[in-house]
Amino acid sequence: AHQAAATTTQDIRRAQRADGPATVLAIATANPETCISQDEYADFYFRVTNSEHLPQLKDKLKRICKKSGIENRFTYVNEEVLKAHPEFSDRKLSSLDARVEIASNAVPELAAAAASKAIAEWGRPATDITHLIFSTYSDLKAPSSDRRLASLLGLRHTVSRTILSLHGCYGGCRALQLAKELAENNRGARVLVACSEISLIAFHGPEECCLDNMVSHALFGDGSGAVIVGADPVDAVERPLFEMAFASQITAPDSEGAITVQHMKGGMDFHIARGVPEMLAGNIERCLAHAFDAVGVAARWKDLFWAVHPGGRRILDLIEEALGLDNGATAASRQVLREFGNMSGTTVIFVLNELCRRFVADGAKGEDWGALMAFGPGVTVEMILLRVASGLKGK
Ligand code: CAA
Repeated sequence: AHQAAATTTQDIRRAQRADGPATVLAIATANPETCISQDEYADFYFRVTNSEHLPQLKDKLKRICKKSGIENRFTYVNEEVLKAHPEFSDRKLSSLDARVEIASNAVPELAAAAASKAIAEWGRPATDITHLIFSTYSDLKAPSSDRRLASLLGLRHTVSRTILSLHGCYGGCRALQLAKELAENNRGARVLVACSEISLIAFHGPEECCLDNMVSHALFGDGSGAVIVGADPVDAVERPLFEMAFASQITAPDSEGAITVQHMKGGMDFHIARGVPEMLAGNIERCLAHAFDAVGVAARWKDLFWAVHPGGRRILDLIEEALGLDNGATAASRQVLREFGNMSGTTVIFVLNELCRRFVADGAKGEDWGALMAFGPGVTVEMILLRVASGLKGK
């Protein structure tokens, strides 16, 4: 008791803090089984939603699909699901109950497929995970996907769980930013970040009133991603991939109505305004400068590696142009867009995984600093300043 009295809260605080920066220690991804080719998507979508009487809308969807930069998408929604639930095709019908019920199982199960791979790659037992951050726009029930995932993976009862919802496409980045704070403020913490998105919650048939819905049906796909973050990696056991040097968020001015999401009786209502790519390109340099100024590193944008959320092909085009990047700077983002589409918050985890694969295959050719960027409703632009860590060097 005498010793406890002599310990100050400052001493406790200092002892709680990690020495080094939060570091990405493992990354993995997963997708549902059904894969639909983008060339065939318009035919599939108009057939399964009984909408062949709207040929002009179908032609529009075909035009958007052609320009999307996407070749394939994986989806939980297939003909079997729609046969069992024809109400999912008609937004005027009440279908939220059934969507929520399906998502409450499918979302954590898809997350478990990625998280179990990440834990295997990490090399330590699942019970060494101390914190779980789960991000999704698809699950609306409590207890939620985070609890279910903890059970599926056999995490310890003392694991500290957080669920993030409705961040949309910046959910993955938000979760990674919080993982950084947890890892750096809790010595020995190992944070599992899990994102899982099933666009079933927003699926419906075409409507002449809302043309931006054609855009979202042309872009969104389903997937899950998991990342393990911790500071002070254990030598010879853990492999440090990326150090997380700084995290920032900005809200774009005059942008509140540009990307909106709302749950309705007929599923999630989702809107993307026309000027979103231009708005993002116009704010991106401000966000980058804010982060680099804060850490006192002078960087040329051309020298960085990029893990940008591929919200749409045009967004990547305009960001490259605004920052004067070389053609190919966002190649990892474009590859993920091509192979999987926009999987909302999960997508940046796929991009980080693809970058890792490229660094392992070709070596980090001089790249040292990089930027992970994502955006979503707000309009919110987030970034994490990354540095290639020793586990990806010398390959
Ligand atoms: N709303 C309605 N229609 C749109 C539209 C929008 N936001 N954007 C494009 N279109 C229409 C165009 O009017 C055009 O229609 P017509 O063929 O009838 O003329 C059609 O789409 C094709 O447009 P373009 O010929 O100009 O081709 P493009 O080079 O612009 O490619 C695109 C089309 C692939 C959709 C491209 O515009 C793009 O990538 N846009 C970005 C989409 C976007 O904002 N994504 C963000 C999603 S939100 C997110 O990721 C975060 C989140 O929180 C979920």
